[in-house]
Parts: sequence; C-alpha cells; structure tokens
Amino acid sequence: MTVQINTLFDENAISSRIADLAHSIAETKPEKLLVVAVLKGSFIFAADLVRAMHRAGLQPEMEFMHLSSYGAGTVGSENIRILRDVESDVNGRDILLVDDILESGRTLHFAKERLTKRGAKSVQIVALLDKPERRKAAISADYVGFACPDKFVVGYGMDMGHAWRQLPFIGYVVPGEETGAAGENEGD
Ligand code: IMP
Ligand code: MG
Repeated sequence: MTVQINTLFDENAISSRIADLAHSIAETKPEKLLVVAVLKGSFIFAADLVRAMHRAGLQPEMEFMHLSSYGAGTVGSENIRILRDVESDVNGRDILLVDDILESGRTLHFAKERLTKRGAKSVQIVALLDKPERRKAAISADYVGFACPDKFVVGYGMDMGHAWRQLPFIGYVVPGEETGAAGENEGD
C-alpha cells in the first residue's frame, strides 16, 4: 500500500517560525515559567520550542500531560482521557501549554481549565497549527505557528493511525482508497 504525503511546511519554515514564536514568548517576560507539552503529538514541537526559548533567554521548566480525545461528541471532559497528568505544583505559575494542532479545541480547553483550577497564575496556549474552521470549544491560541488548511496532516510529531510521527516536515495525506478518514476521530 502506498500513501502519498505532500509537504505543507518544510524543516526550514518550521524552525524559523519556532524561533519567532520563542522571541514573542520571551517578550512577555513570564515568571516561574512551566511549559506543559500535551502528548503525544507535541513532542517534537515542544523539544524544538524549549530549545528556541533557551536561545531567546528563557529558562522554562518542563512538564507533560498525556491526553487522548475520542468521539465526535459535544464539548466537555467526557471526550478526554487523562493518561498522564502534570506532577509539578502549578500554583502561582505562568504556564505555557504546547500542542501540535488546535482543531475542535476540546483538548486544550480541557487542559487549560484543569491547570487554572489547580491555581496557575496564567495559562497561555501555543499551537503549532491552527484549524479555526473546525473549532467546537470556545478557545483560541495565544501563539500560532501556522494557519493550517482543513486537511489531515502528519509528521513532525503528528500521526495518522500511529504512523508518520517521525517525518521531519509537516505534510498532508493525499486522500486515496487506503487512507480514508482514519485517525480523524481520535487524536493525541
Ligand atoms: P482538538 O480537536 O483540538 O481537541 O485536537 C485533538 C488532537 O487531535 C490534536 O492535538 C492532535 O493531536 C489531533 N489532531 C487533530 N487534527 C489532526 C491532524 O490533522 N493530524 C493529526 N492529528 C490531528
Ligand atoms: Mg495533540
């Protein structure tokens, strides 16, 4: 079976955009900054972003939250499974939530509410890609890497049916008989 993947954002475009994002974040002079990467899809983005933040003069700590969304139901926590939660104390801290794609917004809405309830001083969101036309929850990102066309994308941490996370670029799957809509109802 052959799957055709066309490049949407190449390695150079991604790395220069991440440097810009890191500088914008550094300009806000966050305090006791805790970066929370939402697994799994954000793992490569978060790794590159924190190093760019270091180069921009920041010293963030890092945490991980593994969330999995499923179903196409209504907005709410019933659609989100917590597979791993943040362990650090978030009380009084500036939090930067990092995710690969802001699509329906359910995942980040859930994560932001949870960290806010736990006493975070502020919770900001950085999403590498934004698909605003798919939004279901009332949420937007404070920082966006790229506006994403309404296509199923893979690579740079993002998967389709567990495959393609390893690609160093972001591409989209050219629809064919084999691909269908696989993976679109489940995301992490
Ligand atoms: P949400 O719909 O905003 O809650 O996004 C849920 C998660 O689904 C995202 O963080 C991604 O991990 C995943 N996801 C959404 N769209 C895509 C896509 O086009 N490719 C791969 N994963 C996706
Ligand atoms: Mg994700």
